[in-house]
Parts: sequence; C-alpha cells; structure tokens
Amino acid sequence: MTVEVSKRGAARLFSGHPWIYRSDVIRGPKEAGLVAITHRGRFLAYGLYNPDSELTLRAYSRKAGEAKARLLENLEAAIQRREPLEAHRDGGVRLVHAEGDRLPGLIVDLYGDYVVMQVNALALEALIPDLVQALIRRLSPKGILLRNDARGRVLEGLPTYVRVAAGSVPEKIWLREGAAQYASLPYEGQKTGAFLDQRDNRLYAAALAARKKPQRALDVFSYHGLFALHISRHAGEVIAVDSSRLALDQAEENARRSGISNIRFVEANAFDLLRSLEKAREGFDLIVLDPPSFARKKHDLPKAFRAYKEINLRAMKLLRPGGLLFSASCSHHLSEAHFEAMLREAAADVGRSFQLLTKRSQSWDHPIVLNVPETHYLKFAALEALT
Ligand SMILES: C[S@@+](CC[C@H](N)C(=O)[O-])C[C@H]1O[C@@H](n2cnc3c(N)ncnc32)[C@H](O)[C@@H]1O
Repeated sequence: MTVEVSKRGAARLFSGHPWIYRSDVIRGPKEAGLVAITHRGRFLAYGLYNPDSELTLRAYSRKAGEAKARLLENLEAAIQRREPLEAHRDGGVRLVHAEGDRLPGLIVDLYGDYVVMQVNALALEALIPDLVQALIRRLSPKGILLRNDARGRVLEGLPTYVRVAAGSVPEKIWLREGAAQYASLPYEGQKTGAFLDQRDNRLYAAALAARKKPQRALDVFSYHGLFALHISRHAGEVIAVDSSRLALDQAEENARRSGISNIRFVEANAFDLLRSLEKAREGFDLIVLDPPSFARKKHDLPKAFRAYKEINLRAMKLLRPGGLLFSASCSHHLSEAHFEAMLREAAADVGRSFQLLTKRSQSWDHPIVLNVPETHYLKFAALEALT
C-alpha cells in the first residue's frame, strides 16, 4: 500500500520527525496498515497508517525493502541496543520505547523472564502475532502479556484488553533495583506494571541520600514506594504518600521484602497533605515529588503549570536548610524550559535560594530522539536549599 504526501509532509520526514498529519496526506487507501510513504511517486519511508486518525502517518524506516521486514529489523536493533540482556535479568528494562526506538505505537518491557507488550497503533494490531513470534525467538520468555488497555488505543479506534499471548505470566513479578526488592504488577499496575522510566533517577536519589543522611524524608506520589525504599536505607524515617490504597499495599509489601521498617505509608491527596504539613510547620531534609502528568493535552498547560508550581512551592517551604528536593514532571507538553521556569517561580515566591544540583531525564532505556521533542517527556531536577 502507498500513501502520497505533500511537500510539507516530505520536508517533515527529511527533518527527522516521523509524524505526518492528515492535512499533509494527499492520497491513500481506506484501510489502516503498513504503507510506503511517497512524494511525487518517489519512496520516502515506511510508516504506520491510520486514515481515521488526525495523526495519519508515523514513519519508522527510510530504507527501501519490505515493510514488515523493516519493522522487525527495528525491533531487533532496539533489543541489541539493550545488550547484554543478562545484565537486566533481575530488574526490569524497557526493550522498545515507541518513537524513541523507531517503532511508533509499540512498547515492550522485559521484567525478569516475562515480556509485557503494549500496542497503541491500529496499523500494528494485525502484526501482533509476528511481533510475539519475534520476541519468543529472540528472548525465549516464560510468558508474554499483551497489556493493551492504554488510553492511546481508544484514540486509534482500537478495543482495550489484557491477555496472555504466550506461556503464562504471574500476577506479580519480583525484581531487584539496587538494594530494593519490588514487584511489577503486569496486569493491574500502572504503565506496564512499574515505572522503569524513573529507575536511574531513583538510584541517583539513593546515592545523594547516602551522602546526606536525611533525618526525615517525604516521598510524594510514591506509587509502589520505590524512591522511599531507596532513601529509607540512609534516612531516620520516611513518609510515603499516594492517593491509591492499592499502590500503597504493594509499597508496604515491597518494604517488607526489602527488610525495611522505617517508612510510614499514608493514603492521601498530595495537595491536601502538603498543605496540612505546611500548616503544622513540619520540616523535612529530603522531599521527592513525582506526580502523574498534569498536562495530558497542550490545552491543559496553564492549569498544569499552576498545579506543578503549587506542589513545588509547598515542598520548598517544608524543606529544612540544606535539604534536598527531587522534583519531576512526566508531561512532554511541559518543556524543560517551562519546568525550570516553574521551579524558579516557586523558589522566588517562597523567598529561598536553591542550588540546582543537576537536571536529569528518563532512564537510558527510554531513548530520546533529538529530532522528536515529544520523546523527551520526563524532566527531573535535584535542588538543594541554600537558605
Ligand atoms: C508517576 S507515578 C509515581 C511513580 C513512583 N514515584 C515511582 O518511582 O515508581 C504517580 C503516582 O501518583 C499517584 N497520584 C495521582 N494523583 C495523586 C494525588 N492527587 N495525590 C496523591 N497521589 C496521587 C498515583 O496513584 C501514582 O501512583
């Protein structure tokens, strides 16, 4: 199948960005699938095509050949990028990060001996058996779960479902991250069961906590408690906060398994809790803020900016002198510059100075493509209160 695109669409591909919107599609078939993208009849790239989506084309290879073979070639390249896989046996690793690995609409995570796959593109749905076979051949996993219940599928006109595609997959997969033991919940957990994108930042925070030895720490938006688990080894006490009871139950189990007993788990709305801690004039030596995305659409940005600022401002007030703040945003709509501006405004409003120790991003196995700013979604800053 062939899809003809406009000059502007072609220019976008040449700039290294894989997305072409409907307004730049001149001619194409009625059905979705893998297509050859052309301009004036000349081959430009292979892409995923969904004629019913505003985002109509997502290119994945500019090499000529055969469409499916090119896709599977990218899958192999993504896996090779993570070699040696043995190094990740005990922990989780993302093997395919959609556009970051030139595989739009596809997520593949490896948790120990199990694979969790998520397909978010109509054009890939019919290729699921091929992808599953390729993963079986390459990884010999004990099981593969299709975690096809993401919001993105609805936008693509796809049904949502969770089912085992090969072997069997347990409810909990026990893993190790640094000194912590934790479970990924592939069927019910958020994302594909765990937040692998914060792994490197958690280990960084752990190293800083080891140097600082905080007496009191606060992990806000804790989910399964991983920041808290790492920090607690070097802290007097930690309070871990999340609004989900289910998430905190798993966090408590993770702490027990890791032999940790100095974390208090609190079910609360973070906004309310931060406000009441501030009112009670509490103080902390280390605070983590890892909220969900407040800006899912560009339109949400002004409101999201205010929400990010509110929690950061309150955390900055709660920090004792010399205290550390680890602050994150996982919205790609909030740019790095916006994120820093938000932190700067919050610090100014609080009237305190902070040293920006470092700016970081998502873990290495969630690659960023320079030409595709949308792939740089996670922002992370470590700040130290100077006053
Ligand atoms: C990005 S995840 C945190 C990931 C975690 N820090 C980690 O490293 O694995 C965001 C968490 O915030 C929680 N959450 C969402 N809204 C909340 C709110 N208003 N108050 C408290 N927790 C909230 C969600 O339940 C989710 O567990």
